[in-house]
Amino acid sequence: MTNTIINGMQWGDEGKGKIVDLLCPAFDVVVRYQGGDNAGHTVKFEDRHFALHLVPSGVLHPEILCVLGSGMVINPDTLFRELDGLLEAGVDFEGRFFISKRAHVVLPIYPVLDQARETAMGKSQIGTTIRGIGPAYESKITRFGVRMGDLLSSEWKRRVEEQVARLGREIAALGAEVPDEQEVVARCGDWIERLRPFMAETESLLNGWIAEGRNLLFEGAQGARLDVDHGTYPYVTSSSPTAGGACTGSGVPPTSIDGVIGVLKAYTTRVGGGPFATELLDSTGEHLRDRGNEVGTTTGRPRRCGWLDLVAAGHARMLSGVDSIALTKLDVLDELEEIQVCVGYRLDGEIVKGFPASLEVVERVDPVYESLPGWKSNTVGALELSDLPQAAQDYISFVEQHLGATVGIVSTGPRREETIVRRDETLSRLTSGGLAAIVEGAAEVEPPARS
Ligand code: IMP
Repeated sequence: MTNTIINGMQWGDEGKGKIVDLLCPAFDVVVRYQGGDNAGHTVKFEDRHFALHLVPSGVLHPEILCVLGSGMVINPDTLFRELDGLLEAGVDFEGRFFISKRAHVVLPIYPVLDQARETAMGKSQIGTTIRGIGPAYESKITRFGVRMGDLLSSEWKRRVEEQVARLGREIAALGAEVPDEQEVVARCGDWIERLRPFMAETESLLNGWIAEGRNLLFEGAQGARLDVDHGTYPYVTSSSPTAGGACTGSGVPPTSIDGVIGVLKAYTTRVGGGPFATELLDSTGEHLRDRGNEVGTTTGRPRRCGWLDLVAAGHARMLSGVDSIALTKLDVLDELEEIQVCVGYRLDGEIVKGFPASLEVVERVDPVYESLPGWKSNTVGALELSDLPQAAQDYISFVEQHLGATVGIVSTGPRREETIVRRDETLSRLTSGGLAAIVEGAAEVEPPARS
């Protein structure tokens, strides 16, 4: 029995969806524990691509149980669009998809408030995904929120009306149009019967499955640098994408967690505002954006690109206790002559220790780079580390040495077979000894057959 957390080690968009999909053969359950439809990844199923924002990637594996945990904020309109897309593609999720009654509903007024606030902030805006994530979490913390389970109670209309009245005042003060209260109520009412069969006390389900010896995979959304407590506040999301969030957001105790796989992109990207020490505003940044297809899945915004920042990644490793690293998009570096890696921050001539809490400091630091030779050859589709050019192997060793964790998985393209799975002890332990099935899955050209 093994319960493993998958975390993003940067600003999200590290390629967690592919890693979760790859590891599914070794697991029975995939759980999302935070965030909402601000997250997103594209999944290929047979000849179709579609974007999943809420439903875990595991849904494409016919045996996997999928859970939207209590720490999430869920927009039912987005959820139904995804479920419809899956049904159309012939993916049967009946009896294996569960929504926590304790998760919060993203009411239709939340994105309106999110947008109104961003507009009002002008230049200093966060650059949110405008999915209403901030207002949803803020409503939860102020205890005015509406939970998924509340929609099944006799109280739901009153709670929704009160929220529309409360937040409508702020929207009006910001000069934006306030949604009609009864339209919001009617929309929520339309959701209830479709949601009802999926709703469950997921904490009890998850702990029960653990007691039965099933293997759980916790799929983090976003990344450590966007963590509301540990990220580059206030340029963060409103949840806890680090490993600790998996426990609070699922109701599974820390004593049941066996380890953490950190997903790290071979360079860095960020969407939205906020400091980014290794950002490249030149042709190399453009090259990374083009070759890496760095466009937001949720918002379509071009992502800011830069060199790998091992100060930020080291902080993420510490926060989440990363045992094994999945290094993604290595192939995006294939054509570069020289690759820079940030190994420290300097402020006013002095080396700064750790990742500074002060936004002012993070904005002012100069990255200290080490320069590594590029490999100028194709890494796509390599199946063993030893198949990679020596300079690429050296890049991986450099990352391992600086972060103090082994790289267990290397991804060199979006497809499953474009993955190197190292048969090492740590990865074997984190996947319940299921490495053989994972390696076999990685060699598969097509995704698994539909049920
Ligand atoms: P929010 O989560 O929509 O409130 O946005 C807050 C910040 O987190 C913004 O900078 C977003 O661009 C960023 N963000 C939220 N979700 C993701 C994600 O899945 N990938 C990358 N950035 C994200």
